Amino acid sequence: TFSTPEEASEAVANLIISRINAFGPTQHHKFVLGLPTGGTPTRVYEILAERCEASEISFEHVISVNLDEYVGLPPTHEQSYHHFMEEHFDIPPSQTHILPGVPIHPIQIITGTDPSAASEWESDLKAHQVSCAAYEALITYLGGINLLFMGIGANGHIGFNEPGSSFESRTRVVALNEGTWEANARFFEDKSRVPTHALSMGLGTILDAQEIIVLALGSNKAEAIRRAVEDGINHMTPASVLQQHERVTFVADSSAASGR
Ligand code: GLP
Repeated sequence: TFSTPEEASEAVANLIISRINAFGPTQHHKFVLGLPTGGTPTRVYEILAERCEASEISFEHVISVNLDEYVGLPPTHEQSYHHFMEEHFDIPPSQTHILPGVPIHPIQIITGTDPSAASEWESDLKAHQVSCAAYEALITYLGGINLLFMGIGANGHIGFNEPGSSFESRTRVVALNEGTWEANARFFEDKSRVPTHALSMGLGTILDAQEIIVLALGSNKAEAIRRAVEDGINHMTPASVLQQHERVTFVADSSAASGR
């Protein structure tokens, strides 16, 4: 735990840099870095960019794979995670992989209730499921994730794995629960456009990463961190499953670590 968000973010950036620098790439295997979006990691991305500028780190041998993406937002949408990554992490597109949540049918049809809309949503779902299976295959092809950096939702979700998610789940289409929808709606001007679904690495996919870092900042994460770390492993706090993993570091500022 660290006194300030700045110190906690620096600790995470240092850990990422030390792991990448210690990695000896081979012709066939690059360092595979799993990355998050959200308000929490933004300072870490800034520090990584500063260190890159100072030649303390290079991303030449890094391939990034993002944790999740909304369903229904084109990559150019300001709130899509594609757009977020473009804004926050400067790595060539050929070294970046993000789940394609792009709408296949217009979003208003997805939320409609008439039978033809339902069947279009079903065909969209099938297409998204194929993308998710391809993403799993991609991660396997890359040799697995070396280091997965994540935030945590106030309800204890990781990626978009909401309470109740199976610990064996793989990358798939998920429905956002109400609390997460509300929390993320703050980023959207028009609430009617806030996505209801997302594509997310599953808990099983996350657990397969060799090493995991979770960063939590602010008092609204205190209860989630307490439940993830202090309570037993349980499905109502998806992050608690990380207790099963051999190499996880939780990094928190003092507010996020204040749960009793
Ligand atoms: C979203 C993302 C999560 C992220 C969480 C917390 O739901 N899918 O990956 O950890 O929000 O976001 P924030 O860092 O903005 O609190």
